[in-house]
Amino acid sequence: MVFYFKVTSPEQAMPAATVCLIALAVAACTVADPLKRLGQHSPPSKGATILAGKFPPPSVFYHHFVHASKPLLMKNVLEETKYPAFMKWTDDYLSKQYGREIVDIERGKKEDRSGDNIRLDLAKFLQIYNSSDMYVVHSISESMQGEIMVPHTLQCGGFQDNLQDTVMWFSSGETKSVLHYDDVDNINCLFDGEKKIVMIDKAYKDMIEEYGWVEDKGYSMVDVDKVDPEKYSGILRAPWYQVNMEKGDCVYIPYKWYHHVYSPAGRNLAVNLWFTHLWWFNQSNCSDAGNQSKPLSDFEQASSNEILRFHFLAPFSEQKEVTEKSFLQACTCKIKDQCLKLWDKINTNSDRRLTWAELYSFDIDEAVEDLPLCFYTDDQIKLMYEAMKENDMEGEGDDTVEIDDTIETDEKEGRNDGTSAGSDTSPEESIQEKAETSETDEDIRKGQVADVDREEPREEVDETEPAADKQEESIRDEDTADTTPDQGIYEDDKRQHIEHGSHDEF
Ligand SMILES: *[C@@H]1O[C@H](CO)[C@@H](O)[C@H](O)[C@H]1NC(C)=O
Ligand SMILES: *[C@@H]1O[C@H](CO)[C@@H](O)[C@H](O)[C@H]1NC(C)=O
Ligand SMILES: *[C@@H]1O[C@H](CO)[C@@H](O)[C@H](O)[C@H]1NC(C)=O
Ligand SMILES: *[C@@H]1O[C@H](CO)[C@@H](O)[C@H](O)[C@H]1NC(C)=O
Repeated sequence: MVFYFKVTSPEQAMPAATVCLIALAVAACTVADPLKRLGQHSPPSKGATILAGKFPPPSVFYHHFVHASKPLLMKNVLEETKYPAFMKWTDDYLSKQYGREIVDIERGKKEDRSGDNIRLDLAKFLQIYNSSDMYVVHSISESMQGEIMVPHTLQCGGFQDNLQDTVMWFSSGETKSVLHYDDVDNINCLFDGEKKIVMIDKAYKDMIEEYGWVEDKGYSMVDVDKVDPEKYSGILRAPWYQVNMEKGDCVYIPYKWYHHVYSPAGRNLAVNLWFTHLWWFNQSNCSDAGNQSKPLSDFEQASSNEILRFHFLAPFSEQKEVTEKSFLQACTCKIKDQCLKLWDKINTNSDRRLTWAELYSFDIDEAVEDLPLCFYTDDQIKLMYEAMKENDMEGEGDDTVEIDDTIETDEKEGRNDGTSAGSDTSPEESIQEKAETSETDEDIRKGQVADVDREEPREEVDETEPAADKQEESIRDEDTADTTPDQGIYEDDKRQHIEHGSHDEF
């Protein structure tokens, strides 16, 4: 219980020490500080699942974590898999091997997303980072990809074609991210130092976003060091998880889960993989996939059109298969006529229903080219309009509009500790069909959708239950790991990362 002394006028204000002395005479002495750090406000609800010493097989990972929307802490996996960067990346090695790499650096260890960024070569950074506020937040360049691994977990099922970005996070510690979410899934592997993560289930959106939420960037303006209990009562009410990472661990942070990451003082080096959230898991050939990690250089980055497929399919994610009615109803083409065209394109066997295999196998590049208004977001289309208007005024009667690189579906700004979505998701193609863009929602053939019965959302996206894999047995729910109330409170001035549970756990 916090002990307050009411001080009636400023002149009478006593120094905290005096207050304490008087308080001591009465009871225990506590300096009143109503503004608590995020993660100190209440004990965490429950622990994340912990898997020791191995990465899970792809289907287990998909069904139990990605689809189930649950975090996973993979302890000591880097040592077990002899992960090259983990074994080798000392400052000396990095300087010798990659010293001339130019890396992106953010200033200020407490993230404010002000965009105060610089670039330096890695050798220079290594000389000065211990005594500076510099934080390398840098997409792994090609030359370094041979030592960054893609665990077998992400080598089939669709994950392997959906890697979006791989980012190095390197500082001398004491970094704090804002509370935010990413529009992608995330596996973050820690090579050195510790990370303490506060995680909150996306199911608590209403509470987290009720005040001070920056919608377009996906983060909260809450001061993670001093949570204002009035303004941010929603955040303080939401159940949360905490995950404490040590060097050699990897953590899975689910798509759209809110998280805040603190790295205590000391050399802190991590690399995370962001990958597009999959609505469906392609089971074929997955069971005979190997269990070895492979270097990132063996993989292609997700194409920007694959990312558009993900966005387009989001409204259908709860359906087991998609009927024509439910397709037309939820279809987000800006012109409904294009929904019919797209339906025909996907439904190659004309059976009036789309399986997830069909939804993931239609030629997305062709579809985006033919029916761009089905795939670009309102913002992207607005930019297209603006670009077209400018074009018109300049009298450049060109029918194509360049979408410039600044259009991104995922933001890179989220920086601290591998927690933001960085991706090159800009639609790089020029868009045709200028004429059609001048039409609006009114042109949508309402008649085609108005009388459609809403399809009951079904619970499971997947047809197949995950094989009762031997490795599943080794996954245990650690209700208490890392989450005893005492540990849930910041110790020694260190910030805890928290995880919070998914819906069925509360
Ligand atoms: C920076 O600090 C780390 C320990 O946190 C140490 O290993 C490293 O050698 C230091 N680098 C320099 C250039 O002082
Ligand atoms: C998948 O497995 C089938 C049957 O086992 C095989 O014929 C096919 O070549 C495999 N495809 C890939 C891409 O490995
Ligand atoms: C990987 O698979 C091989 C054989 O398929 C097996 O001997 C080995 O123990 C497995 N390694 C791990 C880490 O599961
Ligand atoms: C599923 O995976 C198999 C094997 O890699 C591949 O041949 C097939 O095209 C995939 N299907 C879809 C819809 O991605």
